[in-house]
Amino acid sequence: MNDVSELLRSRKYDQGRTWSAWPAYEAAESGLLNYWYPAAWASEIGKNPTPVRICAVNIMLMRDEEGQVRALRDRCPHRGVKLSQGIQEFPNTISCPYHGWTYRLSDGELVAVITDGPDSRICGAVAVQTFAAEERLGLVWVFVGNADTYPLDKQLPEELVDAPPHAVGGRIENRSGNWRFYAENGFDEGHAKYLHRTSLWRTFKMMPTWNKIHIEKLGRWLYRVEDERYWEAEFPGVGKWSNDRWWKIKPKQHQGRMLGNTGGSVRNDPYIAGLDLPGFASLSLPGVLRIAYPQFIHYEFYVPIDSGHTKYVGVMVQFKSGLAKAKFYLKYLLGIRWLFHGQFSGQDHWMVEQTDAPPERLYRPDVSLIEWRRLFDGRHAITGEPTAGAGHPSGATATASTN
Ligand code: FES
Ligand SMILES: [Fe+2]
Repeated sequence: MNDVSELLRSRKYDQGRTWSAWPAYEAAESGLLNYWYPAAWASEIGKNPTPVRICAVNIMLMRDEEGQVRALRDRCPHRGVKLSQGIQEFPNTISCPYHGWTYRLSDGELVAVITDGPDSRICGAVAVQTFAAEERLGLVWVFVGNADTYPLDKQLPEELVDAPPHAVGGRIENRSGNWRFYAENGFDEGHAKYLHRTSLWRTFKMMPTWNKIHIEKLGRWLYRVEDERYWEAEFPGVGKWSNDRWWKIKPKQHQGRMLGNTGGSVRNDPYIAGLDLPGFASLSLPGVLRIAYPQFIHYEFYVPIDSGHTKYVGVMVQFKSGLAKAKFYLKYLLGIRWLFHGQFSGQDHWMVEQTDAPPERLYRPDVSLIEWRRLFDGRHAITGEPTAGAGHPSGATATASTN
């Protein structure tokens, strides 16, 4: 064998690249701090503490006497016990179950120590960290980090800030697998057509065999934009492959491009159509996927629990009121919840759980992954501030080879 063929052979079997081209992405294993994250359904948070874990930080959520949700670090500074195991002994406080250290919910200040008497000298000298918490879309959102907080509205998908009347259906599930893999899977150009070909959600909806795409960046969002669509393909020397079945409906050309490949929907929702999104799939930091369909928008928030676990928050929003809203809820509960947020997204879970990278060998459609990794450039996606510990100049280290 000559040198060239030997080189080609060893390249072929090369295990592939590391993530050294995207150091900020690589460092974000347990999540990105200083962002808002949806933590729980608002209806689940009451006067008893609920523990959540976000970006490897343990947090407890509970409502004070006024019904306001409060978020405190779920760790008693005394001996490190979980405050979420305690109870509200006095209005607007939480008492640690171990020795009764009692913290004010609004600012985390130690205001009484039950087992040390009213003249306890440690009162006022200790506090637990508090986090900003807000309710929106029926969810409790928590600002996780140490930097100054900014309004949640700056980070919410823009169309939800002053949205017309709408209905929300959704599902929250703790899943194994790293949050970055969930985000990448959500935005992954190549997988849906093949992996989800067997999903019930897609039974009557035809998907292309392959596409050519490019990625557009608009504000903080990346959009997948379709350039070419192929319903079937003849693979040289191998054979023909297509998703086409006589019972499947092909989406109209225009609809498929701007609003998800959902088959023959008669009419597009005017609010969604009016958003004029460059592509139906978009992704932003800190792990928010938006898929626009003709009649609703689907969001996935990939909330890092820690490096090996992700809270999947899937939310569908329909911009309707009155009877149409009631119909949407019914449709959601009877069908969408199981088909889409259940079986369909369960296929993603199945794959993400097994994703084992780096090393990896990327291919042409993975331009979607590469552009997303470039978003982690050491700048906060909302405030534009440099992020702590990540001094990488904007995009300078990324290379986009997709061989
Ligand atoms: S550990 Fe919390 S009061 Fe002692
Ligand atoms: Fe998927």
